[in-house]
Amino acid sequence: MNEAIPQLTSYDEPALDAAFSTLAAEVSVVEAGQDPEAFRLHWLGRKQGRLKLISEAWLKSAPTEARKPLGMRFNQLKQQIEAALDSTALAPAAAEGEKVTGGLDITLPGTVRTPGIAHPLLKTMQEIVAVFHQLGYSTNTGPQVESDFYNFEALNFPPNHPARDTQDTLVIANQQGRQARDRLLMRTHTSPVQIRTMIEQAPPVRIVIPGKVHRNDAADATHSPIFHQVEGLCVDTNITFSDLKGTLDHAMKALFGSGVKTRFFPSFFPFTEPSADVQISCIFCAGKGCRKCKHSGWIELLGCGMVDPAVFAAVDEQRVANGLAPAYDFAKISGFAFGMGVERIAMIQHGISDIGQFYSGDMRFLEQFA
Ligand code: PHE
Repeated sequence: MNEAIPQLTSYDEPALDAAFSTLAAEVSVVEAGQDPEAFRLHWLGRKQGRLKLISEAWLKSAPTEARKPLGMRFNQLKQQIEAALDSTALAPAAAEGEKVTGGLDITLPGTVRTPGIAHPLLKTMQEIVAVFHQLGYSTNTGPQVESDFYNFEALNFPPNHPARDTQDTLVIANQQGRQARDRLLMRTHTSPVQIRTMIEQAPPVRIVIPGKVHRNDAADATHSPIFHQVEGLCVDTNITFSDLKGTLDHAMKALFGSGVKTRFFPSFFPFTEPSADVQISCIFCAGKGCRKCKHSGWIELLGCGMVDPAVFAAVDEQRVANGLAPAYDFAKISGFAFGMGVERIAMIQHGISDIGQFYSGDMRFLEQFA
């Protein structure tokens, strides 16, 4: 870029022609084998470009009548430079056979966008839901900010049940002015959606309820104050505990492999009677006993039971209050319900030992599920 600005001896046309043909020759010399960007800067750079410097040197002192012929020649020269930039001669080391158009190498790899993937928790939640869809269940969801009625009262939690305490449940502020049943809280389980569904829909009911739940728990390696559940509810005529066992045994085999065994232990939930905890044979040691199953050979996975008649009674009472016919006469219908933690299942599926990893947003963790 340091060549001297040529001297212009006169502004008559032959002198201009001579000066510009020297410049044109200079363009073709510099053009050959140049890096396009360096070439562009050399000639067209806005501050130090040669064209700019020459036009400043020549145009300023030009007599008025020479402006037009000078301007025309500048334009021609500029076009020549631009044409050179567009031509293939300037392509940086273009291999033979490569297609290069106007400095754009269409053979270069494109900008690749990494496709997004479902979060591992969402993936497991969808897997669980899919197992039940195949059994003819449909999906229902409900609000995370719930009333005491749906979260506790209709589910047969007595007024002084410890779960209603703020120690265990995150409650919404300034609810004292409301009736106890209308006070708002963060739902502690997805079971309120069972109630919402039955109040609206007469049997038969077969639903799965995936969703986020909240508990006033301190976070540690296996607990998080916000986590996810999938709940199920089946209500119809002649539904028995055997149906519950068969359904859950099938679901566990579908999720963890056909070699998995299940066993049911008596348990307690206010809204089911009888209630059970379900264990699966340890998938890490095939039931032999290892650290993961605390050497018992079994892993506890979910809660379940037959819907308590008190729940059906609360549902029917609310149906009537809403102007609907009662539909949950315990003499005619029965049902079962179950609920499982999505985090727990995903942790077992993938051998994850810290629940916090799900919420960390750490790409090194998440990428492993792509
Ligand atoms: N709602 C219970 C819980 O959160 C789980 C459950 C659902 C148990 C349905 C029995 C039947 O612990």
